[in-house]
Amino acid sequence: MSPNKGIYGENMARVLIVYHTLSGNTEKMAQAYAEGAKSVKGTEVVIKKALDATLEDLLGCDAIALGSADYFTYIAGALKDFFDRTYYPSQGKVTGKPYAAFATGGRGGETALEVLDRICGSFKFYKAVDGVAAEKAPSPEVLAKCSEAGKKLANAVVK
Ligand SMILES: Cc1cc2nc3c(=O)[nH]c(=O)nc-3n(C[C@H](O)[C@H](O)[C@H](O)COP(=O)(O)O)c2cc1C
Repeated sequence: MSPNKGIYGENMARVLIVYHTLSGNTEKMAQAYAEGAKSVKGTEVVIKKALDATLEDLLGCDAIALGSADYFTYIAGALKDFFDRTYYPSQGKVTGKPYAAFATGGRGGETALEVLDRICGSFKFYKAVDGVAAEKAPSPEVLAKCSEAGKKLANAVVK
């Protein structure tokens, strides 16, 4: 994989954030991850809704953050679709890629977080940061944790 270049031709670490949201709670967390990752010099952030995210996005990033709401004690179908589309063609090409997971749920989001960890294990990603879970709309404290986690993820891959 050729390195991602900044406007001055410098090598940039690319952090991809993929999420799905219906009422905006997970999106707020995704934005906080993006802010945290962007604060690390030499990092470029690509933020995508799961239905728009592609295999090329996955292969082209240095680290990935994945976020979902808990719908029916599972992750969002849209994010599952991203995993389903990219699993076979990415196998062997994403082993050890650092990831961070985040989730929100009416009862705390822990179930969706566990599902995300399990799926990320199947991809053979490397858990670089502890997951962040929120009950319904993320509080300022949770958003601060998301920002910190995004920063940590970027620091794991910055060149
Ligand atoms: C169709 C649907 C199913 C849901 N099922 C669950 C569930 O099983 N467990 C839970 O804790 N919350 C459940 N919720 C609540 C959402 O996880 C919660 O409102 C979440 O914060 C929504 O995030 P979003 O704004 O990013 O869509 C469900 C919500 C919807 C719309």
